[in-house]
Amino acid sequence: MIPRPVLNLALRGLALAALLAAAGCADLGDDATVQGEALSFGQDVQPLLAANCTGCHSGASPSGGLRLDSVANMLTGGDSGSAIVAGAADSSLLMLRLEGGGNGIMPPTGALAPDQVERVRQWIDEGARNN
Ligand code: HEC
Repeated sequence: MIPRPVLNLALRGLALAALLAAAGCADLGDDATVQGEALSFGQDVQPLLAANCTGCHSGASPSGGLRLDSVANMLTGGDSGSAIVAGAADSSLLMLRLEGGGNGIMPPTGALAPDQVERVRQWIDEGARNN
């Protein structure tokens, strides 16, 4: 026979484990929801780049060696290396140039609207998903 106090302790341990497991599941659920709302390259970012950037940043000899026509080309980057660091807008050259740092603002004709800059920032911070 297992002494009752030991049995009680064991049962409490099980209950605690079940509670923790339930809490863990709730967390996973939240993450999934956030990911479901993440911005899409094709819908939210690519049209903006096509309208403002790819005139100079695409084709055989793009400005700065940088093609902005696909996520892969942005990750590869141009003369200065990767244009984006997935998940880290603050470390992304693209954001620096959109916000007027480095060698100057992009596009050269003047900054994009703040909500457009913010959209690119959010997409990069969410992992620069290629969808
Ligand atoms: C009128 C042409 C033109 C347009 C439009 C343009 N760029 Fe540029 N971009 C350049 C030139 C020229 C360079 C290279 C010289 C420099 O770094 O300033 C450059 C360089 C860059 C670089 C640095 C590349 C490297 O690796 O050194 C980034 C990042 C960049 N552009 C982003 C953008 C983004 C984002 C847009 C659109 C919002 C944009 N550019 C629109 C002409 C353009």
